[in-house]
Order: sequence, then C-alpha cells, then structure tokens
Amino acid sequence: MLRLRTSSVLASKQLKGPLANKEFQVTTYARPTDLLITRGKGSVLYDDLHNKKYVDFTAGIAVTSLGHANENVSKILCEQSKKLIHSSNLYYNAECLNLSKKIVDKTKSLGGQHDCSKVFLCSTGTEANEAALKFAKKHGSLLGPKKHGIVAFENSFHGRTMGALSVTSNPKYRTPFGDLVPGTSFLNIQDELSVLSDLISSKKDKIAGLIVEPVQGEGGVLPISAEKLVGLKQICSENDVIVIHDEIQCGMGRTGKLWAHAYLPKEAHPDIFTSAKALGNGFPIAATMVNEKINNALQVGDHGTTYGGNPLGAALGCYVVDTIGDEKFLQEVIRKGEIFKNSLKKLHNAYPDHITNLRGQGLMIGLEFTEAPKEVISKCRDLGLLIITAGKSTVRFVPPLTITDAEIEEGLSIFERAVKEVYG
Ligand SMILES: Cc1ncc(COP(=O)(O)O)c(C=O)c1O
Repeated sequence: MLRLRTSSVLASKQLKGPLANKEFQVTTYARPTDLLITRGKGSVLYDDLHNKKYVDFTAGIAVTSLGHANENVSKILCEQSKKLIHSSNLYYNAECLNLSKKIVDKTKSLGGQHDCSKVFLCSTGTEANEAALKFAKKHGSLLGPKKHGIVAFENSFHGRTMGALSVTSNPKYRTPFGDLVPGTSFLNIQDELSVLSDLISSKKDKIAGLIVEPVQGEGGVLPISAEKLVGLKQICSENDVIVIHDEIQCGMGRTGKLWAHAYLPKEAHPDIFTSAKALGNGFPIAATMVNEKINNALQVGDHGTTYGGNPLGAALGCYVVDTIGDEKFLQEVIRKGEIFKNSLKKLHNAYPDHITNLRGQGLMIGLEFTEAPKEVISKCRDLGLLIITAGKSTVRFVPPLTITDAEIEEGLSIFERAVKEVYG
C-alpha cells in the first residue's frame, strides 16, 4: 500500500505545474493529466500550461450556457459582491424574491408549467431533487400512512446525495453505498403505458411521487416521447402520485424551449420540476418549482439550506433567466441545433457501421456509436475539441447556447476529422 502511494506521488511530481498537486485531490473523477483549464472565453477554453486552445462542446456539462467569462455575468457577480453576498434565510433579500417571481412568470409566459406557483432556491441539482422528493413525500404522507415511495426509471440520473442517488438507477453509483432511501422502485420507460399504469396503480397506496428526466441526459441523451410523458402524467393524476420532471440538464433553454416540458400539452405539465446547471452559468444555484397543488406541502421547518437564495447567486440567476427566457434567444438555439444535426446526419450516413443513431433537440444532441467512443473523444482532444460521452456509447453535444456559427463549424470539422482518423 505504502509502495503504491509512493509511486503515485512520484508520478505526480513528474507532472507539469499545478498538476503536480493532483495527489492531494480525492480521485472521484478520471481526468486526463495533459490538460489544465486555465481560462475561457465564449465557447473556447484555454490550457496555458500546455499552450493549447479548445473549442468547447461540453459547456462544463451543460452549465455555461451563456459562455465562459461572459462580461455581464462577471459584472453582476462583481457588483453584487460589493453590495451583499449572503445574509441567510432568516431574512428576506430582494434578489431571491425577484428571481423566484421571474422564474414563475417566465415559466408561465413561455409555455412551461401553467400552474407554476412557488420556487425553492438551493445550490446544486442533487439538492433541488432532494427538495422535490421531500415535497412529494410530505404530500403523500398527508394522503395515506404508507404513501411515501418514489417511482423512478431505469437509465436515470438524478444526483449523488443519498436521496437523489436512491432514484438514480445506475448500479455502479448505488451499490457501494448499501441501503438507500427505502420505497423506491424503478420502471422501464420503454414499457407500454398500460404496463406502467398497472404497476403504478397496484401500489398507489405506497407511491407518493414519480421522477423522470424529459430527456435522459447522463443515460445517453434519450428524449422521452411526448406521448409517454402525457400518459405518465395521466396515470399519476389518477393515482394521486406527484410528477417531478428533472430538468437539471435538459432545462433552461437547452432543448430550444425554456423548459423541455414546454413541448408538452398543459395537462402533462409536471407538479414539480427542478433546475440547476445553466441557471447560474457556473455559479452554484439551483431551484425546485412547485405548482399550486403541492406548494403548501412543506411548511416552516420542513426543509432548508444555508446558501439557497443567496443574493449573489440570485442576482446572477435573474440575468440568466432574462437572457435565456427570450423567444429570439430560444429560436437561435433551435437554429444552431439544426446546424449540428444536419452535419452529424451526414457523418451518420457516411459511417453506418460505426454510428447507429442521432437524436436530441436544440443543443442537446446525442450521436450513438456501436462501441464506447473513447478513442474519438481523445482524438478530438488532441485536435482541439472538448466533447463528452453519455450512457455507454453516445457522444453528447451540449455546447454553450451562445456558441457562434464559426465555432460550431470549427468544432464539427475537428469532430469529423477525429471520426475519420479513428474509423478510416
Ligand atoms: C438530470 C440531472 N439531475 C441531477 C443532476 C445532479 O446535479 P448536480 O451535479 O448539480 O448535483 C445532474 C447532473 O449531471 C443531472 O444531469
């Protein structure tokens, strides 16, 4: 054991600059050691240590939707930090109140949750889902003594805290941690609605809520059909089950609507939906939105968080919601998504033996390969493009929503070259 540690310390010492300190960071991520992000601008990232520049098709995993080093974002952070960063949830602050109202108004005016009513602000996606689960469970417990179970779906990802992990299906993330929150069951989203209906109604006295990503992100960029989401909402309404949409990755303009559920008819809107990632453009802020039916389920003392709704994050959130929650901005997302899709369609046709599927909406696109596309990803990195995978064999395209046409062209031509170099 000691020998192992000594040799990894030696290996770290041979790394360049700050990378030599990698030994001191807990290794929960597998990162390349030839890359140190030092700064960014728009949709470009720089590694000044290795003198490299990258087109960024990752946006920090669908986070920096307004681009890196956005001047308005820095201005707001700077000005608000001189005024007030934090004052606790013991007292009201204007920024938090303004952001809550703004989210409700924009959601309603842009076709999202028609009965959107209140907002709980927190700091991360997993935490927004924890709040959503607590809302559903508390509501269920008021209807029946055993009604606090949650239904989730195979292939889902909802976060890493114990509650959110309980509704995340991947056994790799779950099994090392023993018993999670009891009462969770996983269904297969591909099952017929009649099957899902039977499974849910047979346990209705034990199910408080159902959580689903309208587009499964980490699972492989898998959009759930409108028909399925409409049917699920109907089944849940008939069985007094609260529907939660996790829009942490697919929301906030990513699919070309402010929320992915805005593509659905009104009757299929969720009772609760969650947002994080792009809401702060990289500053940790998240939100749980609840409708009129459930907004009173949590009462004083039922839930809380020190940093949630702090003036710094909330001031920034206001700017992000105003900017992305704009019809013209959202139309641009759809237009740019079409540029990606048209180009990737050609690649799909050119490599039918290696590329099996192209899917997604707006700037959340997945290109599925026959095998894990590790080589393509690392070839892209060598050539100056950062891009990530999703699921077992899908390349995920989630660039900043503000990416320019020229940057899209540059990134796609690198991607094409990488595929060519790997598959000939
Ligand atoms: C759909 C979805 N839900 C929840 C989370 C967890 O969010 P966070 O990492 O901010 O806790 C993620 C993160 O990737 C996500 O994609």
